[in-house]
Amino acid sequence: MHDALVYLNGEFQSLSEARIPVLDRGFIFGDGIYEVIPVYGRNMFRAKQHMARLFRSLDAIGIPNPHSEETWMTLIQKVMDAHPSDDQMVYLQVTRGVAKRAHAFPKEVTPTVFIMTNPLVLPSAQVRADGVACVTMEDRRWLHCEIKSISLLGNVLAAQHAAESGVTESIQFRDGWLTEGSSSNVWVVKNGVIMGPPKDHLILEGIRYGLLQELCEQHGIPFESRKITKEEVFAADELMISSATKEILPVVRLDAQTIGNGAPGPIYQQLYAAYQAAKHA
Ligand code: PDD
Repeated sequence: MHDALVYLNGEFQSLSEARIPVLDRGFIFGDGIYEVIPVYGRNMFRAKQHMARLFRSLDAIGIPNPHSEETWMTLIQKVMDAHPSDDQMVYLQVTRGVAKRAHAFPKEVTPTVFIMTNPLVLPSAQVRADGVACVTMEDRRWLHCEIKSISLLGNVLAAQHAAESGVTESIQFRDGWLTEGSSSNVWVVKNGVIMGPPKDHLILEGIRYGLLQELCEQHGIPFESRKITKEEVFAADELMISSATKEILPVVRLDAQTIGNGAPGPIYQQLYAAYQAAKHA
């Protein structure tokens, strides 16, 4: 692995040398938040929206924002510039900082800020052409899924369930209602309408949520945010997942059942093309 330049608490250093104290509340409590920003041709895609979500996450858990938006962008840019790949995925994380172990917020503490970048590895053309398989599972995570928290044990277990099932993603349901994947949003197409679950505390509002909504508006595809049942998911004409690192992927198998006609559908093809146009614009 390339020993990339990273940013940690005011210093640029190589990934292999970066260290944090064991009493960091990110390590002890999972007390922090993160972002994943895709980079195409050395340009961050939807940077403004990712910054806005970063600031919302910090606000939601009461960590003072350590930097202005301008400073954030400068720090990220420096890490990006040092990386050999043109297409990258920037990962940044802020924890509440280092303090004696006690659950409630420490009084005086400085947030830990970490930025790294990796090559962006997108699904291959073959995977996009074939579509992917997913499994369903009950969503047993906490009830603040709108926060991009580093406490990801529920998501880790969901991803492991998919891995052990030999599929790409777990699609989660809470009391029979669709929520999201372990690290992706889920989209259902029925009779030409694309539907996603409401933007509430039960899902993370992916940056691709707003993007898909915009792309649908531009291309005259009806778009609805509403509660979706498990039956509706299985009866979908098309099913898709979206994330920074997957872009949009067609799901053609769910548990033992074929979705639609078992091949990526026309709405997927249209949205994928629109996505490619948007990222190169
Ligand atoms: N995950 N829902 C969850 C639980 C996620 O973790 C993600 C992204 C998304 C999609 O959000 P976006 O469109 O902003 O990528 C939805 C990132 C990629 C990750 O944890 O690596």
